[in-house]
Amino acid sequence: MSNVFKRTHMCGVLRAENIDNEVILNGWIQKRRNLGGLIFCDVRDKTGIVQVVFDDKIPAELFEKADGLRGEYVVGIKGTVKERHSKNLEIPTGEIEIFANDLIIYSEAETPPIYIKDDDNVDENLRLKYRYLDLRKNKMQKNLTFRHNITKATREYFDSQGFTEVETPMLINPTPEGARDYLVPSRVHPGEFYALPQSPQMFKQLLMVGGTDKYMQIVKCFRDEDLRADRQPEFTQIDLEMSFVDVDDILEVQEGFLKKLFKDIMKVDIITPLPRIPFDEAMERYGSDKPDTRFGFELKKLNEQVSESTFPVFLGALAAGGDVRGINIEGGADQFSRKDIDKFQESTKSFGAKGLVWIKVGVDEITSSVNKFFNQDQLKDLISVFLAKPGDLILIVADKPKVVFDSLGFLRRDIANKMGLLDDSKYNLLWVVDFPLYEFDEETNKYFAMHHPFTSPRIEDIPMLDTDPGKVKAKAYDIILNGVELGGGSIRIHDKNLQRKMFNVLGLSDEECQRKFGFLLEAFKYGTPPHGGLAYGLDRLVMLLSGEHSIREVMAFPKNQSAQCMVSEAPSIASDEQLEELGIKLRVL
Ligand code: AMO
Ligand code: AMP
Repeated sequence: MSNVFKRTHMCGVLRAENIDNEVILNGWIQKRRNLGGLIFCDVRDKTGIVQVVFDDKIPAELFEKADGLRGEYVVGIKGTVKERHSKNLEIPTGEIEIFANDLIIYSEAETPPIYIKDDDNVDENLRLKYRYLDLRKNKMQKNLTFRHNITKATREYFDSQGFTEVETPMLINPTPEGARDYLVPSRVHPGEFYALPQSPQMFKQLLMVGGTDKYMQIVKCFRDEDLRADRQPEFTQIDLEMSFVDVDDILEVQEGFLKKLFKDIMKVDIITPLPRIPFDEAMERYGSDKPDTRFGFELKKLNEQVSESTFPVFLGALAAGGDVRGINIEGGADQFSRKDIDKFQESTKSFGAKGLVWIKVGVDEITSSVNKFFNQDQLKDLISVFLAKPGDLILIVADKPKVVFDSLGFLRRDIANKMGLLDDSKYNLLWVVDFPLYEFDEETNKYFAMHHPFTSPRIEDIPMLDTDPGKVKAKAYDIILNGVELGGGSIRIHDKNLQRKMFNVLGLSDEECQRKFGFLLEAFKYGTPPHGGLAYGLDRLVMLLSGEHSIREVMAFPKNQSAQCMVSEAPSIASDEQLEELGIKLRVL
C-alpha cells in the first residue's frame, strides 16, 4: 500500500478547462488563511501555485487537519476543480480553485529562515546557506529548467553535426589556462598531487590524435581565481574540438549552433555570418577585446588634435610614446554633474589612469577642465573628431595605450549602463579575431601566450616569430555577447618544429616543456591531424540568455564570493588521520 498520493496534475498547469475535474496534487503550502468556515491554502510545486479550499462540507476531522497546516508543510490533496469566486488574474491558475476532499500531510516544517518568494531581498549568503529552500522559488526552478533546455539543445545540435561526447579525466596534471590550480593530494604516491582540470584542453587535443574527429563535452572546470559576478571556482564549459579544420570551418559550425540556440530557446533569429572584428580594431574602437556594440560612444584617437595645445599632461603622454583618446557621451553634458565626472575619474584610477579631462559642448561655447591650455578653435577641432553636438560630454584620457584603452573601455560601458542604454532585449553577438599570439609582460620582461601555448600563429606571420614576436597574430577567436566573453578558442599547432619555436619565444626550456607538456608532444610524434576548437562558458551563456546578472543565479549550488559552499560548509579542515594517510604535515601560517 502506498502512502503517497498518485499525482494527476502539477499545481501550476490547472486552468478553466479543468473545471469539474477530480485532481490529485502534491506540493508545499505557500500560505494558509482561516476565514471561519473556509480555509484557503496556496499549494506550490515547481510549476506554480494553485488555491485550495477546505469548506465546512468536508468531515470535521479533515477540516481540523487542514486548519493545522503551516507554511512549507508538504502535502497531498485530492479535490475538485471549480471556478474561482474572486478571480486573481495575476497568476496563471487564478481563474480556478480546488475544493479539497482529502488531505495527506507528508511532513511538517519549521518556519523557514528565508521567504520562499522570488523578489525576496535577503542577504545572498543566507540564500546560499539555505539553497535547498531558495531553490523552491519559482524563479530558481525556472532557471534550472532553462539551463537544462540549453544543454539539451546543445547536445542535440552537436550530435546532429557528428560530434561525439567524450568524458575526460578530472584527476590530471596542471593544464595551462593561466589560473591557479586546485590540487588533490595522492595517497598512493605520497608527496605527489593531481590538479583538477582548468579545462580539458590537452586531453581534447589527444582525442584528435586518437582519431575522434569531432569531440564535445559539457564539462566541469576548476580555476582558483578571484571571483566576480561572472566567475566561479567551479564552472561548466561546452567544450569542442574538431580535426581537419581551419578558423572559418569552426566559426561556421559555431554559428549554426548559436543560430539554433537562439531560435529554439529565445525565439530570436540571429543573422549569420556574425560580425568579425579584429582584436586591434576592437581595442581602437571600444577599448576592449569584448566589445559591447549595443550602443555608440566609440573611442577616437586625438594625438594630432592635442599636439597643438599647451597642456603638459597630454604633451608629456605623447612624448613618452603614449596616446590621447576620448569618448563622446552623447547627451551627457546635461545629465552628468562635476561630481559625477569626479566619480568617473576615480573609477578609472584602478586601471592606472592619472586623470580624466572633460569637455562639455554648449550651444554658444565649449567648456572644459583644460580651458586654459586650449583655445576655442582647438577645442572645436577636437570635438569635430566626434561630430559632437551641443549637450555632448567628451571624456579624455592620456597614458600608455593599455591604460587609455582599459579606462575608456570601462567608462564607455559603465556610463552606458548608468544611462540605461544596455538593452537586455538586444543580442549583439560577434567574433573578435586575430588576437596577438603573445602578450609582453614588462615586469618580467617576458612574452606570455595570450591564449595558450598550443595556439597556432597566422601562417603569414610565422617569419616574425624570429624577428618581432609581439606583432605575430594568432588563429584565435573569442565569441562575445553584449560585452561578455562567452567563449574562446583557436586553431592549434600540430607541427613539432613550430611548437618548439613557440616554446622558445616563451622562454621555456626543453626540460620545462617536457615536464609540463611532454605527453602531448610525445603524442604529436605519431601523426597529428590539423585541429582546433573552442569552449563556451555554459554558466555565462545561461546567465545572459535568462537575463540574470550573476552566474550564481543559474547554478544550483554555487560558491559564495569567498569560494565557500555555504550549504556543506566546504572547504573544511582535514582530520589528523586523513593528513597522516596522505603524508601531509601542515605548515602553521
Ligand atoms: P578559456 O580559458 O577562454 O578557454 O575558457 C572558455 C570560457 O569559459 C568561461 N570561463 C568561466 N566561466 C565561469 N567562471 C570562470 N572562472 C571561468 N573561466 C572561464 C568563459 C570563457 O570564455 N581550453 C580553452 C578553450 C579552447 O581553446 O578550446 C579555454 O578553456 O566563458
Ligand atoms: P593635474 O595636473 O594632475 O592637476 O591634472 C590636471 C587635470 O588634468 C585634472 O583635471 C586631471 O584630471 C587631468 N589629468 C591628469 N592626468 C591626466 C591623464 N593622464 N589623462 C587625462 N587627464 C589627466
